[in-house]
Amino acid sequence: MRIANLSAEVSPFAKTGGLGDVVSSLPKALAATGHDVDVWVPFFLEAADWFRRRGTWPVQELDPFDVSVMGAPHRVSILGANLPGTSVPVHFVAHDPLFHRPGGLYAKNEHGVDDGIWRFSLFVRAALEAMKRTGDRPQVLHTHDWHPGLAPMLGAWSSWRDPWFDDVASVLTIHNVGYQGIYGPDRLPVLGLPPETWTGGLVEHSGALNMLKGAIVAADMVTTVSPTYAWEIRTAEGGAGLDGVLRLKAARLTGILNGIDREVWNPESDPHLAAGYSMDDLRGKHACREELCALSGFEPADPAMIVGSVGRLAPQKGYDILFEAAPELVRRGIRLVVLGSGEPALEGSMRLLEAHFPGYFKGFVGYDDALSHKIQAGCDALVVPSRYEPCGLTQLYALAYGTVPVVRRTGGLADSIIGLHGENLDWATGFHFDDASPHALAAGVLHAQSVFFHRDAWSRLVRNGMRADFSWGRSANDYELVYRRAREVRGLPW
Ligand code: ADP
Ligand code: GLC
Repeated sequence: MRIANLSAEVSPFAKTGGLGDVVSSLPKALAATGHDVDVWVPFFLEAADWFRRRGTWPVQELDPFDVSVMGAPHRVSILGANLPGTSVPVHFVAHDPLFHRPGGLYAKNEHGVDDGIWRFSLFVRAALEAMKRTGDRPQVLHTHDWHPGLAPMLGAWSSWRDPWFDDVASVLTIHNVGYQGIYGPDRLPVLGLPPETWTGGLVEHSGALNMLKGAIVAADMVTTVSPTYAWEIRTAEGGAGLDGVLRLKAARLTGILNGIDREVWNPESDPHLAAGYSMDDLRGKHACREELCALSGFEPADPAMIVGSVGRLAPQKGYDILFEAAPELVRRGIRLVVLGSGEPALEGSMRLLEAHFPGYFKGFVGYDDALSHKIQAGCDALVVPSRYEPCGLTQLYALAYGTVPVVRRTGGLADSIIGLHGENLDWATGFHFDDASPHALAAGVLHAQSVFFHRDAWSRLVRNGMRADFSWGRSANDYELVYRRAREVRGLPW
């Protein structure tokens, strides 16, 4: 099947979180089973820098052409490269005035205005135009999150639909319902859709223009990244205001747990580690622990449990809960190492804790891919305190690295980690806690600590986790079924 993915992020070229990882690893897995898959992303400054650092540059795939948004032409060009080490093509939509911007992928414009709807609509129009020019029509357009949401909208509403879409089905994957692309009604002309999409409530939500809602209504099939999250987003508590729309779409909504890319996340071959290791020979993990102690200012000879965490410092991730629990954990002899960036107040908390507890709390402020691998390998346990978590990847990386996850029981964390509770040591892979509170988190980590000092029991947990298979295999098959279903609901053959 021919599948075109449209996304804001793709690893390793431009990523802020798990979206980038999945948009790289899922296409790789599908291509490995014989599908014809490619990826379309904006050519952000970050991607340009990625190539510059390596002294290479993507090839020009098409001569520059004009895309019209709000009646004005905008010149774009299409560059191309493969996902490293694969034959999966990535097509970059290059338009420097919008995408060559410092300050991160989602940075506001030079006037401090969030012009995301404008940037991503231009991206979608350029990508579709390029597909038309090359004659490369996909059978399924797979869009990720709200950013490319205009694509399913253009394809869906038949009275004004472009006939090009007659043989194209659409699938939307919601990686996080908390990010919806909400803009004022005055932005509607940017989409170039008829006013009925507003008056009919297709893109309108609570008086605003809501890109994710429009994409949900328009897509032939909607998926999200774990079965539990597929249920949570249909509740008032988890739906971030879109639960009603998602309930209406229930028959075409399914949750598929993310997989991980074992070529990138494998302790046997990870170039970022001080030493490689595997389930059968864990000696290298000790070397990784020593390196992490040296980087964090921890005493390497001290056998105290080292607990790590890696993530965006956003309210979703619950780092305020972890930081509140940190003094209690440190008092109980636990060492904590956190890598994250985001909200300045949380970055400040990390610095404060580090100043208060040198040798026990280390906070790395920033985004550092190599360090994230070193933390996964060097820690004994990994804590994920999320308030909500659609899937979560760091707990899956931890399992692969023999680092025992302690997770809040929500979304994909609940689906991927089997919590230890008395009798299930033969198959448990980590620890759960329920409340989003410092007290509950501390209880979960202290439970882990109590098992940590029973070496046999701990090593059972480590091995259970390393044995768990979260490579893409089964989930990639599930996506294939969703693609087929998306074509079926449109009455298209596959
Ligand atoms: P989300 O997509 O919500 O951020 P995930 O757990 O799915 O959460 O994915 C996060 C990804 O981003 C992981 O690959 C993680 O290692 C990476 N990551 C997050 N913050 C950082 C950071 N500060 N430095 C390096 N990698 C990070
Ligand atoms: C989102 C979610 C995260 C998920 C990732 C990849 O950013 O917050 O839970 O793992 O997307 O699907």
